[in-house]
Amino acid sequence: MSQQTTTVNPAAPTPAEASGTAKLILDGQEYELPVVIGTEGEKGIDISQLRAHTGAITLDPGYGNTGACESSITFIDGEAGILRYRGYPIEDLAGKARFTEICFLLIFGHLPSSGELERFESRLTHHSLIHEDMKKFFEGFPSSAHPMAMLSSMVASLSAYYPDHVKTDDIDLNVVRLLAKAPTIAAFSYKKSIGQPFVYPRNDLTYCSNFLHMMFAVPAEPYTVKPVTERALDLLLILHADHEQNCSTSTVRMVGSSQANLFASISSGVCALWGPLHGGANQAVIEMLERIKADGGDYKKYVEMAKDKSSNFRLMGFGHRVYKNFDPRARILKKMADDVLGELGVKDPLLEIAKALEEIALHDDFFVSRKLYPNVDFYSGIIYRAMGLPTNLFTVLFALGRLPGWIAHWREMVHDPKTRINRPRQVYTGATERPYVPVEDR
Ligand code: CMC
Repeated sequence: MSQQTTTVNPAAPTPAEASGTAKLILDGQEYELPVVIGTEGEKGIDISQLRAHTGAITLDPGYGNTGACESSITFIDGEAGILRYRGYPIEDLAGKARFTEICFLLIFGHLPSSGELERFESRLTHHSLIHEDMKKFFEGFPSSAHPMAMLSSMVASLSAYYPDHVKTDDIDLNVVRLLAKAPTIAAFSYKKSIGQPFVYPRNDLTYCSNFLHMMFAVPAEPYTVKPVTERALDLLLILHADHEQNCSTSTVRMVGSSQANLFASISSGVCALWGPLHGGANQAVIEMLERIKADGGDYKKYVEMAKDKSSNFRLMGFGHRVYKNFDPRARILKKMADDVLGELGVKDPLLEIAKALEEIALHDDFFVSRKLYPNVDFYSGIIYRAMGLPTNLFTVLFALGRLPGWIAHWREMVHDPKTRINRPRQVYTGATERPYVPVEDR
């Protein structure tokens, strides 16, 4: 109970405990490296003094073995398919909590009391308008602009309107502003792309129904958000809310480590998310399924293509750096796809192709031996489609869901006394010193 009510503003992560040493022998000399252990038993060899003592660095392309920080926000056990936000299993949160509760939990470290949640939601509601001048930015984009291009630019632009001063109160006001305005920016990007007038936020609607209202309402007639779509969006955002040190979150921390402001740091996370190997995979999955459908539905051919190293084709929505058994988010989403499509009365041939693909891949030695399973992006796009959301907006929806995670990590990093500017090293493999040759002699 005390944990539920007192940790309103957790600063740095709980430091990992010391747990013995590891030995390294390099050029015949032995070194002892401290070992630390996290609360879930994860071991880390602390190499922070490695170069100072040995002159050597580590080499880990893709950072698959590198812990860049200590963090108390999210725990993942990829082998066991476990995902917990601040200790709470994703299966318990999904369907029970509201997305706004999850935002509070991730950012401030505890589940909000009803009073805290009410105040937090009210602040999100009352900060949802964007500055009228920012509307003019949308006019400058071509209607074909990808909404992720607009989202990243607009999030960075918020820093022009709300400069931050590093005091916690200012930071937390900007945190609220960002969470509140991001759905408005996302919906305005969509309206811009289809040439419809912007629909302003409404203070009587919840976070998710307000977003859906701004997306789908038009001034000509009233629009009521379907409860099933509001519930589905809320759940989808929760499932995307954090995933510890993934590519975009690490980018946010990397940029933030130079003391760049909140909006600039989060905007860099939006850009990192955009790529098809990360959040852009949800759009890529639908494009892949549409391609298979247009090609006569021969999904087996595409499984063979994915196995053929010379084809450059991958099964989008399959595989994960961390999950090597199953992605717990994908399990929830698979069931949800059936429920939401059923409730909305939508029959989508792409869902059938997706299920057939999954079935065959799960029994194919290529995928089994590499531990490749459907990830969060495999079924999410099919649900977004059923909700009437356009394909090029899917990654924006991922970004809206991931916002609280990025913010929580940025905030944790800012308050962590161990934070130093992120500056990896390299093993140089270029030319050794050589003399400059004047152009006339080359
Ligand atoms: N289809 C076919 N083969 C695959 C796939 C796939 N989707 N993913 C991995 N492989 C193979 C890969 O070719 C390699 O084979 P080999 O060992 O013979 O060279 C092996 O599996 C390991 O792959 P990797 O690329 O070294 O693994 P990684 O951990 O570096 O990459 C990944 C992880 C998610 C980028 C990758 O699995 C992938 O490209 N998946 C498709 C894109 C995707 O769905 N991304 C969304 C990830 S989940 C949402 C998020 O958090 O962003």
